[in-house]
Amino acid sequence: MSAFRRRFILLAAIMLVAAGGCSEAPEAPRFKLTDVTGASFGRELALTDHNGQRRTLADFKGKVVTVFFGFTHCPDVCPTTLVEMASVMKELGPDAQRLQVLFVTVDPERDTAEVLKRYVPAFHPSFLGLTGSVEEVARTAKEFKIIFQKQKLPSGGYTMDHSAGTYILDGEGRLRLFAQYGVGAPTLLHDIRLLLK
Ligand code: NI
Repeated sequence: MSAFRRRFILLAAIMLVAAGGCSEAPEAPRFKLTDVTGASFGRELALTDHNGQRRTLADFKGKVVTVFFGFTHCPDVCPTTLVEMASVMKELGPDAQRLQVLFVTVDPERDTAEVLKRYVPAFHPSFLGLTGSVEEVARTAKEFKIIFQKQKLPSGGYTMDHSAGTYILDGEGRLRLFAQYGVGAPTLLHDIRLLLK
């Protein structure tokens, strides 16, 4: 191999590395949560908020939206998630105005708009509880691949088993991230900040 040819190969290799470095830099945010961008689910939501107003994802355009499914009688997972989201709101400071936290009930028989209004804003005044008919809630849960089931209690009442993750949508209403239950506020905050950029 001639010296010229060796130098040419070396130069080509350097250019490749430089090009690779460039294409990676500003475009790809490094999410800590599961990136579900391009998913063919979680595209629609049509429910009633805790003030009785009909809501769709279009209402929150320009805001990052988190969607969590739960129920107000939940002893642990749901309140823990809402406390975490309240802490994210606090850490965001003025940017919190561009984050909308949605709490969709999987127990519409008990979680009426009035019940949600007493429960959801107690965690943060901007949080919105969403409910609907049993059919509407079932349809929305299915659209977001959320599983839930009523479990009878020996006492005569019931509790709800439900998927416990949080979905995060960008300002265009596109599903972007999935957070498993318990990832913690710092991880949620990190990725929400990336989506707010
Ligand atoms: Ni729960």
